Amino acid sequence: MEDRKAVNLMGRGGVMQGKAGLSLLISGMLVFGPTVAEERTDPLAQYRPILSESFKQLLREVDPASGERDFMRKCSSCHDQQRDGGHGKGPYLWNLMGRRAGSLPGFEYSDAMRNSGHTWDIAALNYYLADTEQAVPGRIMNFRGIRRDKVRARLIAYLLQFNDAPPPLPE
Ligand code: HEC
Repeated sequence: MEDRKAVNLMGRGGVMQGKAGLSLLISGMLVFGPTVAEERTDPLAQYRPILSESFKQLLREVDPASGERDFMRKCSSCHDQQRDGGHGKGPYLWNLMGRRAGSLPGFEYSDAMRNSGHTWDIAALNYYLADTEQAVPGRIMNFRGIRRDKVRARLIAYLLQFNDAPPPLPE
């Protein structure tokens, strides 16, 4: 897939930005794709994960502010999420949504990340954060993953805020 900045993959019909046709196609794949994201164990490069209904519900229920604590504990030692943030041990996470994986200048990604062929959206991030090595075999991020759906939902809801155009929560 090609490089696109801040394209809103999860938008609803009319409010999608950027290359609307492509986004529509992708949204369609997200909605009508295989239904059991959790049971798939393929690397990100080989399939497009989707969100389960229960996870979407969790995303709607959690308070995005509550993810700050999780972020500070689990991610902030390596990642900066602020608009004017810089790279640390990991790339900065401002404008993560819509970013092609492994594409920021000035950060030395693994080949695995650069070649994963994915653009970060909620489903891809959820899949990655559940088990980073499974999602991107060979990734250099020294963090295994987060088993609990609720913690991932809090973190993702929190991170969505750090985007020029925060995507709406999936319906
Ligand atoms: C020990 C340091 C470390 C921790 C802790 C860590 N990361 Fe990372 N992260 C990295 C590195 C290094 C990379 C680059 C991975 C690669 O190139 O394979 C990365 C890459 C990423 C990417 C891909 C970004 C891009 O530009 O494509 C995302 C998303 C991400 N991390 C999110 C998180 C989140 C969310 C947390 C907390 C739950 C976290 N990371 C915890 C070091 C870390």
